[in-house]
Amino acid sequence: MMQATTAVRGRTERAGGKRAEWTGGLSRRSFPAGFVFGTAASAYQVEGMALKDGRGPNICDAFVKIPGEIANNATADVTVDEYHRYKEDVNIMKSMGFDAYRFSISAGTGKVNWKGVAYYNRFINYMVKIGITPYANLYHYDLPVALEVQYGGLLNRKVVEAFADYADFCFKTFGDRVKNWFSFNEPRVVAALGYDDGRFAPGRCTKCKAGNSATEPYIVAHHLILSHAAAVKRYRQKYQHTQKGRIGILLDFVWYEGLTNSTADQAAAQRSRDFHIGWFLHPIIYGEYPKTLQVIVKERLPKFTPDEVHMDMLQSVIPQLKIQNMICKLVVFLIVRIMNFLIPLASPGAADERNGVLIGNRANSDWLYIVPWGLYKAVTYVKEKYGNPTMFLSENGMDDPGNVTITQGVHDTTRVAYYRSYITKLKEAIDDGANCIGYFAWSLLDNFEWKLGYTSRFGLVYVDFRTLRRYPKMSAHWFRDVVTSKN
Ligand code: GAL
Repeated sequence: MMQATTAVRGRTERAGGKRAEWTGGLSRRSFPAGFVFGTAASAYQVEGMALKDGRGPNICDAFVKIPGEIANNATADVTVDEYHRYKEDVNIMKSMGFDAYRFSISAGTGKVNWKGVAYYNRFINYMVKIGITPYANLYHYDLPVALEVQYGGLLNRKVVEAFADYADFCFKTFGDRVKNWFSFNEPRVVAALGYDDGRFAPGRCTKCKAGNSATEPYIVAHHLILSHAAAVKRYRQKYQHTQKGRIGILLDFVWYEGLTNSTADQAAAQRSRDFHIGWFLHPIIYGEYPKTLQVIVKERLPKFTPDEVHMDMLQSVIPQLKIQNMICKLVVFLIVRIMNFLIPLASPGAADERNGVLIGNRANSDWLYIVPWGLYKAVTYVKEKYGNPTMFLSENGMDDPGNVTITQGVHDTTRVAYYRSYITKLKEAIDDGANCIGYFAWSLLDNFEWKLGYTSRFGLVYVDFRTLRRYPKMSAHWFRDVVTSKN
């Protein structure tokens, strides 16, 4: 068994053909020069400082306390305690040969919590010192409760200015060292799971205690897009010329394949793509919602004013028609997270099997099927439909059940095969011209997995949730062998 609390050292001894089989022939050289490899996590899922050191309550704190919402009524009050163990975690990343860490900053409002600021300074400084590039995300589902109580949080247009102010503070405070910024993690998840089916905080929907699934998701999505635009504008106007960084947004995407080639199934698949990534990417690139949404959602779909489109949004992205003029200041990139599975879509619903055959093996999460070719299609779709924006694959991973022992957990051969096959498909998409410049695995450590609490393990490193000791899995060794290999 592997040692606890250890760096991932030494190349796995495999010669010639065996080694090529193990890595799938992947190495640094498989990717363009400068390609970034990292892992990703979020503040709420790994820090474990709920209501400590001045951290104010957020809507996730409130949500997880509702009995029955989270498996075993688990909370993230401690989770993997990265707040205190960040050095160990950064050392592990380094020993695996990773270049970068995508983390999120716990969103705040009102009075600055200087203890929190000091923590992020320590953490960022350590990453920089060790040689791990910080990629900071401003929002990962953790809206301060104060905003929810004061004016309904994301449902109120006031949130746009509040977010811009918070982002401004982060740029000012950390931007001398952080050069890669993201506004939101998966705004679609925020709008759909928070306000349509109520599975995530703040748990609103028509059938929930409060909410309106017909209108609220669209209002929230609109405010998220405007908040993104407002933050980008601040960065551009106040910081970019001195800090010389870039800012993007993290969008999740699921590849939808028509069940058959019939016009109806193909149209249904396209509708699903529009409602998934198009909902956010289309306005950001083209200044309006996809026609599909306009036709189906009608008056429930908010509109962008000409000012918003021209002053905020299109300034922040790569306008398709002006790409030649803009190329010299192409500082914004879009970070597109491609989900791990594919759903062949039969009109009017979605399915996970075709002719009785599952689309791929299922991981532990009920939504997560292993379908690597879906990744090729999803990346290529963004390339072709949205003008091949600069992309990062900002999250990719699979989970095992939470109750596996350490010995079982570290022997994660399925995860090794998973990463080998997905990264191979990403390479193919890049070789075919997709402008993808980096890859982040989800996640470095097993951690708090939302509805599933600790009954799901996504890590490259096993965490014993009783002792919080870290045990690198076989997949950690696999990554190290791939990203440290020069041939
Ligand atoms: C994403 C989310 C992460 C993580 C992952 C695995 O939707 O950004 O927080 O939980 O999925 O479910």
